[in-house]
Amino acid sequence: MNVKSLFLLGLVLVAGQAFAAPAERWYSDEQVAQGEKLFRQNCAGCHGQNAEATPDWKKTDANGNYPPPPLNGSAHTWHHDLDLLRRTIREGGAKLGGQMPAFEGVLNAEQVDAVIAFFQSKWSDEIYQRWSGRFVSDDLPSLNDIVVANKNPLTRLLRQRIGNAPIDDVSETSVADVWQVQIGNQYVYLLDNGKYALMGDLVDLESGRNLTEISRRVTVVETISEFNDKDLIIYPAQGEARATLNVFTDTSCPYCQKMHGEISQLQAAGITVRYLPYARGGQNGPGYETMKSVWCADDRNQAMTDAKSNRFDDLPQGDCAQAAMIDRGYRAGNQVGIRGTPALIKSNGEKIEGYVPYRELIPMLLQ
Ligand code: HEC
Repeated sequence: MNVKSLFLLGLVLVAGQAFAAPAERWYSDEQVAQGEKLFRQNCAGCHGQNAEATPDWKKTDANGNYPPPPLNGSAHTWHHDLDLLRRTIREGGAKLGGQMPAFEGVLNAEQVDAVIAFFQSKWSDEIYQRWSGRFVSDDLPSLNDIVVANKNPLTRLLRQRIGNAPIDDVSETSVADVWQVQIGNQYVYLLDNGKYALMGDLVDLESGRNLTEISRRVTVVETISEFNDKDLIIYPAQGEARATLNVFTDTSCPYCQKMHGEISQLQAAGITVRYLPYARGGQNGPGYETMKSVWCADDRNQAMTDAKSNRFDDLPQGDCAQAAMIDRGYRAGNQVGIRGTPALIKSNGEKIEGYVPYRELIPMLLQ
């Protein structure tokens, strides 16, 4: 941008600020009143009666957890669009290792909107304007539409460079005019309306959070959560369940076999181990056919132990419906970008690549 256009932009910005009327709010007074009651019952204990707690929200506690941030506009809640706010309240913060409880099943959609209306009613016009200018303008095409139409330089240039690789998601970041593009498990940031791409992690220096890593983990958690317990081979925690570990495993991989030998120690420490199949090398890989058999066995846990001890005699044919899991597991593993087996995935989406002796692993999972 040259000096003259910078100057013009400055004028436009100043003019815009001086003459803009306060943005009309999306909610009604009734919603605010309804939301106030619900907020006092469900949220005020952590976020304060008027959504003002905790003023010192950037400081972690002794356990490294963030306190509940104020929702009254003084923190960064206005960085999130309405859908993300709704999702945070429905799903809570556990996905990202946070402390915010999930309200799915406690508050219905209308009630969630009402509590949002209540805390947004505490926002100044200036904050609300910033939020609404960014997110709720109906006449802006959604970026997904742009991606589908494939006309915009944002994706046109990028597509030329990446060929046919599918773009999984494009989303706005909290940095003005910087877009995040997800291609598989890789993230790229587009600058200057898609003319430049920056590869690297985006870190919020105020909160110290690595935003790219958070995106990566969300993808991992979403991918893993598509698998039901009945699809997997599970070794439940003994006694009180304290952590869950998802493991992409291959019956033919020596370190997967070694880890399997320590599974009872993990269970005894209160850790549930969920095995997902990942046949290294795919359909031609050494474990592919065996794992189909394991997934087709009546007693899959026993079959897993047999296969990992190189005892194949009792394994059934791998021709049942469940055998499809081996391909599904392989796709999922690739989607989350694992590089080998065993690949350990903590419940917050953090990956630990490779075998870790149980004595070291247990504290990593319980911390
Ligand atoms: C047990 C304490 C607790 C309760 C109860 C609670 N929250 Fe939270 N909330 C948190 C914490 C802690 C965070 C910070 C993120 C995390 O760790 O998950 C948070 C984060 C949020 C955020 C994201 C804010 C941002 O700026 O990123 C929203 C929105 C939110 N809470 C809304 C609510 C609403 C609405 C309710 C009531 C329906 C509620 N919370 C109840 C503790 C709580």
